[in-house]
Amino acid sequence: MEKQKVHYSELGLVNTKQMFSKAMAGKYAIPAYNFNNLEQLQAIVTACVETDSPVIIQVSKGARSYANETMLRYMAMGAVQMAREAGSKIPICLHLDHGDSFELCKSCIDSGFSSVMIDGSHLPFDENVALTKKVVEYARQHDVTVEGELGVLAGIEDEVSAEHSTYTKPEEVEDFVKKTGVDSLAISIGTSHGAYKFKLKPGESVPPLRFDILDECEKRIPGFPIVLHGASSVLPEYVELINSYGGKMDGAVGVPEDQLRKAAASAVCKINIDSDGRLAVTAKIREYFAKDPKEFDPRKYLGEARKELINLIKHKNQTVLGSAGNA
Ligand code: 13P
Repeated sequence: MEKQKVHYSELGLVNTKQMFSKAMAGKYAIPAYNFNNLEQLQAIVTACVETDSPVIIQVSKGARSYANETMLRYMAMGAVQMAREAGSKIPICLHLDHGDSFELCKSCIDSGFSSVMIDGSHLPFDENVALTKKVVEYARQHDVTVEGELGVLAGIEDEVSAEHSTYTKPEEVEDFVKKTGVDSLAISIGTSHGAYKFKLKPGESVPPLRFDILDECEKRIPGFPIVLHGASSVLPEYVELINSYGGKMDGAVGVPEDQLRKAAASAVCKINIDSDGRLAVTAKIREYFAKDPKEFDPRKYLGEARKELINLIKHKNQTVLGSAGNA
């Protein structure tokens, strides 16, 4: 059977345009939570409805093949329906995280995504511009918004991995935005993907993010939406819970919440969070099995994980990103 094309508006989704202009004016950031499965998506919707927060639900290439692209489309549609039935009008955007080719971005646009990222950050500047521009040209025809990236983040996320980071060069951002026509730009200011963001020696604390680079970028593209990847805080209580129930996650460290709050008040309009959700789920499942080794009903332990994820997301929306109450 041939794959059906569908426009995101038919699924009740929105692109990022209005979300970002409101976030810029209101000095908060839109949360972009990654998901791969039912419980994660239920938790994101429930928490965002309860906090009245706009939300970007995002999937990586790996998540798309894990969940199945058709299944994903209907999950996103179900997410919107679930929010509306709860009496909520929160805007929901379905976004491709780290698209690595024109073909993947096109396929997502054709199957109902309202926003895509084309990540050409590992390419030489001119090639990044050419690839990003090609995606923007296709996306425009469907009113889909596009995120580009300049500068490389270290760390691992599904297929995307880099050993070393390269900070964004502020002198390149204006030219990139002009030449490509992107709607938002991810920059590299010291965050990284995954749960091991900083290698700290005993007694050392996390180095501050490079707000000087962010300020320089803002000056060159005033009022333009900036995106922060690798923004999990790797909450110590989850790492401790995981380690106390048999896990081995020594040395896991993330971005302190006060730094994210500062970023959210700037031109940073979208903050990506994946690892924190993974940690919350893993911590609760480990705890559940340790305390009740006889249990074998997935609803029990996944239900506990989902509950924790709801608490975590509400906390992020209310006290870190400031998106609560802004739907
Ligand atoms: P974390 O690994 O810090 O959650 O970052 C996720 C991310 O940036 C997705 O693109």
